[in-house]
Amino acid sequence: LNNGLALSPQMGWNSWNFFACNINEAVIKETADALVSTGLADLGYNYVNIDDCWSSLLRNAEGELVPDPKTFPSGIKALADYIHGKGLKIGIYSDAGAFTCQVRPGSLFHEKDDADLFASWGIDYLKYDNCYNLGIPPKERYPPMRDALNSTGHTIFYSLCEWGQDDPALWAGKVGNSWRTTDDISDSWASMTTIADLNDQWASYAGPGGWNDPDMLEVGNGGMTYPEYRAHFSIWALMKAPLLIGCDVRHMTAETLEILSNKEVIAVNQDPLGVQGRKVSTEGEDGCSQVWAGPLSKKRLVVALWNRCSKSVKVTAKWKDIGLESSTKVSVRDLWKHEDVLENVTGDLAAKVDAHDCKMYILTPAGYTSPI
Ligand code: GLA
Ligand code: GLA
Repeated sequence: LNNGLALSPQMGWNSWNFFACNINEAVIKETADALVSTGLADLGYNYVNIDDCWSSLLRNAEGELVPDPKTFPSGIKALADYIHGKGLKIGIYSDAGAFTCQVRPGSLFHEKDDADLFASWGIDYLKYDNCYNLGIPPKERYPPMRDALNSTGHTIFYSLCEWGQDDPALWAGKVGNSWRTTDDISDSWASMTTIADLNDQWASYAGPGGWNDPDMLEVGNGGMTYPEYRAHFSIWALMKAPLLIGCDVRHMTAETLEILSNKEVIAVNQDPLGVQGRKVSTEGEDGCSQVWAGPLSKKRLVVALWNRCSKSVKVTAKWKDIGLESSTKVSVRDLWKHEDVLENVTGDLAAKVDAHDCKMYILTPAGYTSPI
């Protein structure tokens, strides 16, 4: 969507994956505080996004949405002021249907009023869900909220959550700043790998202004191992997915913070070229030995060697698969070791990768000097 936003994928936090409906204004404020104190805000995680369950079950007599008085007694405007005071941005959630998925009032046919209300609160981001949609196609339900947000005069990030209904990559580029390509993620290896593959098929439709959204990060929620979460974060970054943290950032392990804070991996995600990396080769039984790669600015490439097999294997990225001329020599930087590991490599790059782990590298052609 050409609204000046999403020149790189959005980064921040969302309440749903960890808290579900157990949210309140203290949790949101403490999360904003934690994003700042952990350094995550400085790394670019700047949206604090409230998901479903912030609203009362009914609109008020004026027909307005009302924050739940038990959990958000100070209202959303006060929360927005608090979050803005920390140098962060605030996101909210509604639904392109009669109700939200947790049966709060939806915004279908209330687009203008609700967008104006959100803008009056200082909202910077809207996630717009797909429950209770009355069988109306998303192509009809999502543009009215785009137009309503646009007419508020405030610049508001528009995140479509239509679960991949009607292949949004084919039409949502003119509607939203990101669109979900799949059903909801869950905190498991099976879910994460399935979603990565589904999101991959739409790679060519992503770019500055509009991104494929394979759903929010589960890193730190406990259902995967450290190598699995490292792979999850690596592949989401390479796929130019939104990096929306989904854990309780007030109580993270050192490993969780290390993964989410990897500046070099974040830089891949935020690279100005804005091309979604892809799965470029598979080998082994069930194709579990995989290479994912894509171009970066300054003639560089990102390459991930992802071992989805159940035991350690050697994974090889061949130049012809990643789009390099056979004679090209590159230097190789390992983004998890934070070291330049090899020079003058040509033909292929191979490494032994542990089960379910992922190595991630930037390849820079030898002799290339950036014009900038
Ligand atoms: C849907 C969305 C999720 C989350 C929940 C909230 O399932 O896809 O991301 O917003 O609704 O109810
Ligand atoms: C179902 C659920 C929703 C949401 C979608 C997305 O429809 O009812 O809450 O999770 O799936 O996959």
